[in-house]
Amino acid sequence: MRQGNELPGPVLGLESSCDETAAAVLAADGSILAEAVLSQSVHARYGGVVPEIAARAHLAGLPALVARVMDEAGLNFTDLAGVAASSGPGLIGGLIVGSSFAKGIAIAHGLPFVAVNHLEAHALTARLPGQVEGGAPFPYLLLLLSGGHCQCVAVEGLGRYVRLGTTIDDAVGEAFDKVAKMLGLGWPGGPALERLAATGDAARFALPRPLRGRPGCDFSFSGLKTAVMQVVSAYPPGPLPQQDAADIAAGFQCAVAEVVADRAAHALEAFIQRNPAGRLLVVGGGVAANQAARASLREAAAARGFGFAAPPLRLCGDNAVMVAWAGLERLRHGAPSPLDHAPRPRWPLDAPDMVLA
Ligand code: KG4
Ligand code: ZN
Repeated sequence: MRQGNELPGPVLGLESSCDETAAAVLAADGSILAEAVLSQSVHARYGGVVPEIAARAHLAGLPALVARVMDEAGLNFTDLAGVAASSGPGLIGGLIVGSSFAKGIAIAHGLPFVAVNHLEAHALTARLPGQVEGGAPFPYLLLLLSGGHCQCVAVEGLGRYVRLGTTIDDAVGEAFDKVAKMLGLGWPGGPALERLAATGDAARFALPRPLRGRPGCDFSFSGLKTAVMQVVSAYPPGPLPQQDAADIAAGFQCAVAEVVADRAAHALEAFIQRNPAGRLLVVGGGVAANQAARASLREAAAARGFGFAAPPLRLCGDNAVMVAWAGLERLRHGAPSPLDHAPRPRWPLDAPDMVLA
């Protein structure tokens, strides 16, 4: 296995695993040459992502998006050192569109292709140049908080991930989206809920803190979601009074921040057992954009002498910079993927094929 070789050129990355169509080009040293994200607003009217519509929208959006980032980067496909695409986990239609598109470019121009695990892309974002002083060397603890995933992962090396805990019901972003829906905030509701919570009183409604103080570092959000539903259903049908909605939003967000920090504290203990030298907690996923969650996680990290790294907001949610970066890291290790690599809806980070040969 080649170790850390500098690549002969830039890498193109594509993201299409859910409802963001994204493309990015990174230079061989990982600096960002161009990036673009198209968030598919078409799903808002359905209150959730419709997989078939998402796949068609990726197909419609990708060619122009790729042309745009290549143009912005001032590159031809022949200048590239490789093409990477999210190839799972996610919605299979979108994964097929993105990975087939990337394979097409790779075949046409004789380039290596990398089938990127979307979770690995979130996990490695902290290692992008300029994100963390010193470049986030392995090992570190990752808290992945997104709409589809909620897990604590010991990131011990490229391809070496140990899942310490996960959600036993809803993902945290899913809980944000469902509560936002109850409050009439549209979809996806996480950012809108955070804005509303800023004007609310978090102490007005007593909401549960699921699993707080329990051993282990699994998460649970369905009880909290149900508790919010009970509060909301005590009101007459129709929009909630503005201040009441704000107080519920603030109470919910505060409960999530507390629970997440408690689970992170347990995960840090488990992580230290495995990796006594590790000293960094990294957050990723769309919910990592939430300032209340960030603040409580920063505190949990500091209490154990850990540094805390959160990517800039645009790199927290789904994006192609992280996909290109994961592709770049794998190419540096001489680990491209075969062109017949099949995208897959489920692809855990600790799957045997994640480990480098
Ligand atoms: O990582 P992501 O872009 O997509 C995946 O789910 O993989 O995460 C999207 C999720 C959505 O549930 C969205 O509501 C949530 O992240 N989110 C937030 C915030 N920004 C995005 N939740 C709470 N506060 C935010 N500021
Ligand atoms: Zn994601």
